[in-house]
Amino acid sequence: MKEFIDLRSDTVTKPSPDMRKAMAEAEVGDDVYGEDPTVNALQEKVANLLGKEAALFVPSGTMANQLSIKTHTQPGDEVIIEASSHPYNFEGGAGAALSGIQFQCLKGSRGILDASQIEESIRPADHHFAVTRLICLENTHNRGGGSIYLLEKMAEIYRLAKSRELSVHLDGARLWNASIATGIKPQEYGRWADSVSVCLSKGLGAPVGSLVAGSKEFIDRVHRFRKMFGGGMRQAGIIAAAGIYALDHNLERLRDDHQNAKRLAVGLKELKGISIDPKHVESNIVIFDVLNSGMTASQVGEAMKRERILVHAFGRTQIRLVTHLDVTAEEIEKTLKAFKKVLEKKE
Ligand SMILES: Cc1ncc(COP(=O)(O)O)c(C=O)c1O
Repeated sequence: MKEFIDLRSDTVTKPSPDMRKAMAEAEVGDDVYGEDPTVNALQEKVANLLGKEAALFVPSGTMANQLSIKTHTQPGDEVIIEASSHPYNFEGGAGAALSGIQFQCLKGSRGILDASQIEESIRPADHHFAVTRLICLENTHNRGGGSIYLLEKMAEIYRLAKSRELSVHLDGARLWNASIATGIKPQEYGRWADSVSVCLSKGLGAPVGSLVAGSKEFIDRVHRFRKMFGGGMRQAGIIAAAGIYALDHNLERLRDDHQNAKRLAVGLKELKGISIDPKHVESNIVIFDVLNSGMTASQVGEAMKRERILVHAFGRTQIRLVTHLDVTAEEIEKTLKAFKKVLEKKE
């Protein structure tokens, strides 16, 4: 019996016994010398999945994004990004601190940007302005509620970028979810970005690890910065093995998480005081508003905790739930019952 049903994030999963077995049995070597066969196999697998020449294993999604930004830019450059994106908001100011870039933030529709608004924001070639160098996209978009880019939208943005000699980086921490939700292969998405970061420790359930993928020349340069950022790891095959296991076993089952998220959204919509549009739930993230409940998000969060359910409250009235492989359909029903109890108690 679990102590809590934990819906705060899909990062809270624990490695399964079979995943741990794969880790324990992994063949390893010193990856800083490029001699870890399991890391090499993972890198090749992910490069193939994303349709790129090469990929590099790194400790976190944050490092994957920031290495990409560093490699694409020079200090003083400008990076166009969505205002609620992860690299801008939740990576400790790394863009400024580690790459010396400035972000230009555009407001997207649930995190999704249009080529036309990006085009208007590219700085003219004038010495008053920073040089626009890079466009960062996020798919699925975390704060957008797991929203997914239409492939055509990404293609349009990429074509615009190329016509203006800009690079495109895709924060694909949950690109796997986008792919399973739409049936569009990761390499189809990868085609419309120069670099892609992906995570193994979110929906896929590995304990740690992300990768950056791109051209061989790009990844060679990322490799140098990975060393500089302190991300060179030694017998990392132990954790890479968990990533290989996750890709082999936990990709298709993301469908269950999406179904569970949809069920949550539909059930929550029935409850008084909650404002949510279930059609906005496209993958494994559910964001909703409790403004009309007479409680703040943190009050709802505290009351849910007393029901042994953990949720992520942010802002005054918003709550995020993320479904993942350690939450069952039955637990989703329990969660809905608990929300009903918490909100009815208030009345
Ligand atoms: C969209 C997105 N990008 C990047 C990251 C960063 O990943 P990490 O926590 O591994 O640094 C996250 C983490 O949740 C994320 O949601």
